[in-house]
Amino acid sequence: MTLPYSPLNPPQKALSGQDKHSFGYATLQSRLPVIVSKTVDDVYRTYHSLSDADPLKKEKEQEAKKIIELIGGLRYELQRDKPFRPLTDTREDVEEWNKALAEYYPTSSWYKASWLFSECYLYRRIKEAFALTQHWKDYDPFFEQKQTVFKSSQKAVVSMAVQLTTPVDVKTKKSVLDIKVQDGPESKATRDAFFEMVQVSLWGNATDLSLLDNPDLAKVEQLQSRMMSSSSSNSSSAVSSANASPAASTVHLNEVAQGTSEEHATELEKHAEKILSNDTELLWSKVKSLRNGRVDIILDNAGFELYVDFVFADYLVRAGFASEVVFHAKRIPWFVSDVMPFDFQWTLDQLHSPTTATSDTPTYFFNPTNPIEQQALQDLGKKWQSYVDNGTWKVTSHEFWTSCYAFYHLPTHPSAQDLFQDMRQSDLWIFKGDLNYRKLVYDCKWPTTTPFTKAIGPLGQGEEKAEGVPMVVSFRTCKADVVVGLKEGVEENMDNIAANWMVSGEYAVISVSP
Ligand code: F6P
Ligand code: MG
Repeated sequence: MTLPYSPLNPPQKALSGQDKHSFGYATLQSRLPVIVSKTVDDVYRTYHSLSDADPLKKEKEQEAKKIIELIGGLRYELQRDKPFRPLTDTREDVEEWNKALAEYYPTSSWYKASWLFSECYLYRRIKEAFALTQHWKDYDPFFEQKQTVFKSSQKAVVSMAVQLTTPVDVKTKKSVLDIKVQDGPESKATRDAFFEMVQVSLWGNATDLSLLDNPDLAKVEQLQSRMMSSSSSNSSSAVSSANASPAASTVHLNEVAQGTSEEHATELEKHAEKILSNDTELLWSKVKSLRNGRVDIILDNAGFELYVDFVFADYLVRAGFASEVVFHAKRIPWFVSDVMPFDFQWTLDQLHSPTTATSDTPTYFFNPTNPIEQQALQDLGKKWQSYVDNGTWKVTSHEFWTSCYAFYHLPTHPSAQDLFQDMRQSDLWIFKGDLNYRKLVYDCKWPTTTPFTKAIGPLGQGEEKAEGVPMVVSFRTCKADVVVGLKEGVEENMDNIAANWMVSGEYAVISVSP
């Protein structure tokens, strides 16, 4: 079927910087110039720290200056709303991008085009500046930021690692998670763990770097501890149980298996209230029917969010629901914090590999003082690495994810055919985060009561439904002024509670199209 939609002809009016009251306008006006300036700062710092011993120092410096000039020019074009221009590098997606520019926006510019197009174009233009060089071609100007924020996530990272690996049962050496899933898919504990894991993966999306223009690391940590406090309460018990006598461990084991902690339930409930549309039950009905299935996770951000995506994928594997999890990453630096294949492997390495290879006393990226916690991180990293090594987890990337196209075009766009044919083999597609949500619903001004399954067009269940699409799920904290799937009255109620509820990242949706 030929799709009637295009960036110029979306299914509803597109969000655009033309509307001065929109988040798109605010993004173009204030957030993106800051992001662009920080990119320049990063290149500046990096080339100033090049070693004198580097024989290529001069060449690298010259290229860095060129990058800075090009990105400075980009900032100027954005701030003066200059017309888009074709890309000039030789990456494999250039032709596709230039075709789209010529077809849809030959004379358009940042504020006139759709917000989605402008924003994607900006990140592709940043990539162009690097792609035109020899020595900076693969450089990720956002990597340092990704790394710093991940480091500041230590508390939440460690507490979850302990839960997932530290034995709480001295006899079987099982961890909290293993115990929760040990009675099989139909057990209450497996179900409860699923609902918890979904929330952990969802709220991991609240701390991405593009929303936090100037991330206050203390705040990030606070947010994560709040979100993960249910996990932390269990993990500290797990650490003490691991040191305790078998009798003490047994007491804890019973508590865990029955999931009776009041505090724990209240924390989850508190967070669940902020999920404005929650289809977890529908998702669970699908997941519990899977045995050794394939689940595709279309990733969003690196660092803490990626870590909790691993936690979620690990649950699916341990519970026997999935024997294959395919992670889709981005090929180029994207929306600041998005995962690239390098980030994927780097994150695993930080958990289990020492940062200093030659020292007698190895040092690690995370440095909890408690040796049990350090052990937990390493055990978890090794376990996850083994999933990668034996093919249970796969990381892949495709140009389509960094194209200008909404996901309506995934089933039919010629350049996405190989991707779509492969993804059709999957039992479940999980889209993480805000931008993926925007691309699912074509970044339009849908009435908020539009059913999700309608708003996602060919990936949903309406007349345009494409053949071979499995259940589609979105875990998204709301950071853009589009949301669908709400019940009557929710929008009005939220407008009274918090004027910026659509964009603050404090509220969320878990949306499913069966
Ligand atoms: O900058 C715009 C935007 O798409 C926002 O909607 C959102 O804050 C951010 O970028 C990306 O968020 P996420 O990492 O969740 O996709
Ligand atoms: Mg992102």
